[in-house]
Amino acid sequence: MKSIKKARNLSGKKVMVRVDFNVPIHKGKILDDTRILAAIPTLEYLREKGAKIILISHLGRPEGKKKKSLSLEPIAKHLAQLMGRKILFVPFLTGNVVESSIKKLKEGQILLLENTRFSKHEQGERKDELAGELASYADIFVQDCFGVVHRDDASVTGIPKHLVSYMGFLLEREIKILEGVMQNPKEPFVLVLGGAKSETKMPIIKNLYTKVDKILIGGVLFNTYLKAMGYSIGDSLFDAKMVDEAKKTAKKRKIFFPVDVVVGKEDGSGYRLVDIKKNPHKICGKGESIFDIGPMTVYTFSAKIKSAKTLVWNGAMGYFECSPYSFGTLSIARLIASCSRGKAYGIIGGGETIESMVQVHMLEYMDFISTGGGAMLEFLSGKNLPGIEALEKNI
Ligand code: 3PG
Repeated sequence: MKSIKKARNLSGKKVMVRVDFNVPIHKGKILDDTRILAAIPTLEYLREKGAKIILISHLGRPEGKKKKSLSLEPIAKHLAQLMGRKILFVPFLTGNVVESSIKKLKEGQILLLENTRFSKHEQGERKDELAGELASYADIFVQDCFGVVHRDDASVTGIPKHLVSYMGFLLEREIKILEGVMQNPKEPFVLVLGGAKSETKMPIIKNLYTKVDKILIGGVLFNTYLKAMGYSIGDSLFDAKMVDEAKKTAKKRKIFFPVDVVVGKEDGSGYRLVDIKKNPHKICGKGESIFDIGPMTVYTFSAKIKSAKTLVWNGAMGYFECSPYSFGTLSIARLIASCSRGKAYGIIGGGETIESMVQVHMLEYMDFISTGGGAMLEFLSGKNLPGIEALEKNI
């Protein structure tokens, strides 16, 4: 894959950059601009080189329909504030207005097109057509949307079939850091996994097992393991499809489970602490679910986290949005951030994980915050990601 640094004579060239501006937004207000900020180094570089910059991104999942709440217009305004310069916005993805606006672009100017997923072809059967049309507007393509490289979308995998394509700085850095952790982590390497979707975490356990020293498990992922080990978990969420897979790894030496949990009702009422060893058959009562890891677990996990020289965390330890159940996740967030500030190289990724770090005001202590949620998980699982493959095939 070619780095954008390898592109020559960018001055006056029309450069299309696929960014990931899929950020949380409410009534036009951007709630977290991490991904927008992360895109800026590539844009500044292209601007300095005198390129005419055309930005494309998706926002949300509008499934081919125009939705005002998912327009990229507020993002153009926010990017303009962050960069301290004008960002042009065209409320279309293709067509005459797009063509004429691109024709008028001057060197160093930036133009953002409308949400790629307003077109049903972005993820539909005729994605090649859309990719060809988008490619016809530019001379060069830059892929800088790590968060979407696991999607086979027209704007991700289609455009590199038509244009000479490069990696932007964001994508390059994500690959370098995550690959480094997978191939050559500083030991001890402690992996902390939680969150809701076990099917995205189990493949990471499989892929990284020989590289890690310890894997600490929490969240719904732990419930799936409990189910696999024959515990009764009441109304707790678990991933039925992954129970067999969990059975295969439950007894593995490097995997560590919580020793106590907080159970209760979803609204936070009736919460109580349960010691798992003492209550193996009665972790949950009627109508109760597991919603957090307990203090003894935080204590046992903390020693393991403190021993690490590499720390990777993805997935909350429980339902931390509800205050009686926030202790476990926020404690783990504080521990991981403190250790990252110290001797460990700490990486986090995933919306909820980052949100918990924001809540404890320690995000800046992390060494690397991946802009990929699903993409980071698939990357760490060792899967071939279509967006990266498309760049590898590009000549
Ligand atoms: C993300 O938020 O993980 C990326 O922007 C991809 O979004 P998607 O899951 O809707 O494809």
